Amino acid sequence: MAEVVLRDVEKRFGKIQALRGMTLEVRDGEFLVLLGPTGAGKTTTLRIVSGLEEPDRGDVFIDGVRMNGVAPRDRNCAFVFQNYILYPHLTVYDNLAFPLRSKLWRTEEGEIRKRIEHVARVLKIEHLLQRKPDKLSGGEQQRVALGRAMVRNPRIFLMDEPLSNLDAKLREEMRVELKSLQKNLGATFFFVTHDHVEAMTLGDRVAVLNQGVLQQVGTPEEVYEYPANVFVARFVGNPEMNFLEGFPEGGKLYLGDLALALDLEKVWKGREVLPSRVLVGIRPENILLGQGGTVGEVYLVEDLGADKIVRLRVGETLLRVRVPKEAEFSVGEKVPYLLVHEKLLFFDPITEKRLG
Ligand SMILES: Nc1ncnc2c1ncn2[C@@H]1O[C@H](COP(=O)(O)OP(=O)(O)OP(=O)(O)O)[C@@H](O)[C@H]1O
Ligand SMILES: [Mg+2]
Repeated sequence: MAEVVLRDVEKRFGKIQALRGMTLEVRDGEFLVLLGPTGAGKTTTLRIVSGLEEPDRGDVFIDGVRMNGVAPRDRNCAFVFQNYILYPHLTVYDNLAFPLRSKLWRTEEGEIRKRIEHVARVLKIEHLLQRKPDKLSGGEQQRVALGRAMVRNPRIFLMDEPLSNLDAKLREEMRVELKSLQKNLGATFFFVTHDHVEAMTLGDRVAVLNQGVLQQVGTPEEVYEYPANVFVARFVGNPEMNFLEGFPEGGKLYLGDLALALDLEKVWKGREVLPSRVLVGIRPENILLGQGGTVGEVYLVEDLGADKIVRLRVGETLLRVRVPKEAEFSVGEKVPYLLVHEKLLFFDPITEKRLG
């Protein structure tokens, strides 16, 4: 059964349409990541699921039960806010114990201690339990806020960028922890981020949102390999996908000013007839240097550590090409390049939807 369902949800704040016809299912036990740029409507979506905000139109279901108008505390979701607030006068331990001591979830102190110890171990905050929040770094506070949601053992976690204040290393560790936590609990995670790497590594599925409109829902692989439109293609992946103007003509595909004529039947497997002008996308790792019949000029080499990005100039076009870190290229060098035929993606230049 789908655990959380949003159906045709609309939300407006004054002149701003924050969500437009949002329909989305989070499956039972799934880690679903809602990904999008700032202002996309991600927080609004979670607030509507949690009951902190009511939709103007449309429905929210949890476990098949319509939730419109149901108070937040009766929705059995734990919410980790983007701007988490800890009680400043309470120690970390008491902050963690707080929900369990409330009337709603009253729990016996021995059990509270057991749960807090477990959660503190997972989150690596055991040494902080007796401190007050103002003696914690931002990342430590964030982990305490996470812990406060975890001690309740809710079935559904709603998380709004809970790792944003952590440094890169801790964030990576926490990703692993969150993922295994979710597996062990069998809980449903509805997780918001604007970081596509986080989305790809955490999500069983990723839902991409832009300007209140859901763009695509799919596995990380689907979203990466077959983006539904130009927005998703650009937003997922770093560095960005290359885009070129393509002109299919007489069985050939001409690409921008690349002086290439590719055999159309090798690059286009779709059934429909292509329009006379298309947008062609190709990821940086799908351009191979040192092969092929035409050459470009190395304009810049960026060392990313694990690999390098070569900016290759062809005519007026600057291509991004991912190469292994051992590869040596010098600026000004002329290098042959090859586009991996099967990896070209075609988009309608007007609607920006992927063709195929
Ligand atoms: N209470 C509010 N009053 C007025 N406008 C709001 C309110 N809450 C959200 N908005 C607007 O709705 C839109 C969506 O906001 P939301 O907070 O959902 O975005 P977000 O995707 O979470 O962005 P971010 O990544 O910056 O957190 C934005 O344009 C925002 O300014
Ligand atoms: Mg937000």
